[in-house]
Amino acid sequence: MLLELQNITKSYGSTEDGTHRIVLNNLSLNVEEGDSIALLGPSGSGKTTLLNMIGALDHPDSGSVLFRGKSITELSGKELDNFRNQEIGFVFQSHHLLPQCTLMENVLIPTIVHTSKEQRLQKISEAETLLRDVGIWDHKDKLPGKLSGGECQRAAVVRAMINQPSLLLADEPTGALDKKNVNTMADLLLKLNKENKLTLIVVTHSEELASRMNKIYNLSDGKIS
Ligand SMILES: Nc1ncnc2c1ncn2[C@@H]1O[C@H](COP(=O)(O)OP(=O)(O)OP(=O)(O)O)[C@@H](O)[C@H]1O
Ligand SMILES: [Mg+2]
Repeated sequence: MLLELQNITKSYGSTEDGTHRIVLNNLSLNVEEGDSIALLGPSGSGKTTLLNMIGALDHPDSGSVLFRGKSITELSGKELDNFRNQEIGFVFQSHHLLPQCTLMENVLIPTIVHTSKEQRLQKISEAETLLRDVGIWDHKDKLPGKLSGGECQRAAVVRAMINQPSLLLADEPTGALDKKNVNTMADLLLKLNKENKLTLIVVTHSEELASRMNKIYNLSDGKIS
């Protein structure tokens, strides 16, 4: 099993001022290597919260997250950095590109750990392939501020993919894309899913994208169904 969420509970706020709210309620989920999962649910249901738990960006109040059988809540410092950098690709709901860097520079940020000249050239060539696949190669030398939301979103997907993670966590990666580009993005994700065994967990409101995944889960009332 690639990923096991066991009885995850997460709440925000405090009981003292009445803001306490349980967002994930004793939630369990198993993800097998090679799964492609669409995660659906109303706004505020906890989808981003759940991705943050899986990517170790936040801790559950209780329960555990196991990645290849190992608890990620017990990782610390360098182990945690390595886990995030090597195993997980994260596409945030807002693209989080650095405004002062070009698209090409942005997508190469996760690769700065690869220091040899050969590794750098290899990564630049992989970036080229991915940027072409999602149709933004012509924009590679532009700053994010000069590009559309959808173009930035596609760059964020390329950046998440550049270290060939085992698991891609994507939070509405096609929210700013038109139908044609949703399909192009789905083609790329599923190609990597088939050829590289990239496991996908994709939060989406797009029926188009959801229908291309092999499993569809709904998050509501803190649980998955
Ligand atoms: N850091 C935080 N502090 C307090 N409350 C939070 C925090 N982050 C999220 N919440 C609350 O937790 C609930 C779940 O938020 P989350 O962002 O996970 O929802 P979501 O399903 O991703 O929604 P959307 O589809 O709008 O992105 C919401 O009610 C939100 O207001
Ligand atoms: Mg969200």
